Amino acid sequence: MSLRKVTSLTALCAFSVLLVTGIVLYVVPLGRVAAWAGWSLAGLDKDGWVHLHILLAALFLVVGVLHSVLNWSPIVSYLKDRSRRLRVLTPELGAAVALTALVAVSAVAGLPPLAWLLDLNDSIKDSASRTYGEPPYGHAELSPLRLFAQHTGLDLARARSLLAARGIRVAADEQTIAEIARTNAVTPQQVYLAMKDAAVAPTTPGEMPAEAPPGTGRKPFAALCSEYGLDGEVVARELAAKGITAEPDRTIREIAEAHGMGPHDLYKVIREAVSAR
Ligand code: HEM
Repeated sequence: MSLRKVTSLTALCAFSVLLVTGIVLYVVPLGRVAAWAGWSLAGLDKDGWVHLHILLAALFLVVGVLHSVLNWSPIVSYLKDRSRRLRVLTPELGAAVALTALVAVSAVAGLPPLAWLLDLNDSIKDSASRTYGEPPYGHAELSPLRLFAQHTGLDLARARSLLAARGIRVAADEQTIAEIARTNAVTPQQVYLAMKDAAVAPTTPGEMPAEAPPGTGRKPFAALCSEYGLDGEVVARELAAKGITAEPDRTIREIAEAHGMGPHDLYKVIREAVSAR
């Protein structure tokens, strides 16, 4: 058996699987959304796909180095001219470096058209967040039921009786939402939806949490206003008085970035404007 052939074929196989797992990672929902909604594909959850990708990448790196060592003489011959003299600065090497630099600069500076791949990635993640739904806070599924109820303003006893009425069994208040979901073969999101009506004080219009909940940046301005029972036009006028132009269909992140701030900053500005009324 030839080591050189095994190495090259392993690099090819590993690369093929990396290509598939890489494409899946490009379209997979954000970690918090995937964990909350119990996202899986072909029986593997997001972590499963990431683990597959990382270990195959490690195999690819090892065989890639071996492949380069075993094929060193053809690589060196790419750098030789017709008279077989070593010439490092060949036009081919120049083209390879220029192409790599173009892609690297596009990525860092966000230059089109290559950066459109990054924008596409963002909009796929945005749309997955809308389809699957955001958790009330990042990785809420890791909180024990008791703390989760505190954070989300649910009455614990009522939440438990709602869960029981819907056939979701809870062994202890210290069980995490993820454990409750797993033992009942449902997703963390379904556990939350089953007990959501146990809210102690439903959000009154204009009452916004102190910190922006996850996914706020991805929401259009109009959607954020209607979520908190606010009149979008009134809020837009209040923001305009502060020099911020907020179009209804632009996301909080887009509006924030257009005004040199982050989504959390803009959320705070809106919250302050609303609570100062
Ligand atoms: C074959 C084509 C490949 C494609 C299409 C691809 C695509 C991707 C994508 C889309 C992600 C997720 C990025 C994100 O967080 O949004 C990713 C992560 C990653 N890739 Fe690849 N990849 C490929 C090959 C490789 C190779 C060759 C290596 C290393 C030798 C590699 C190493 C990694 C690592 C370490 C991560 C981070 C995983 C994590 O913690 O989320 N990938 N890749």
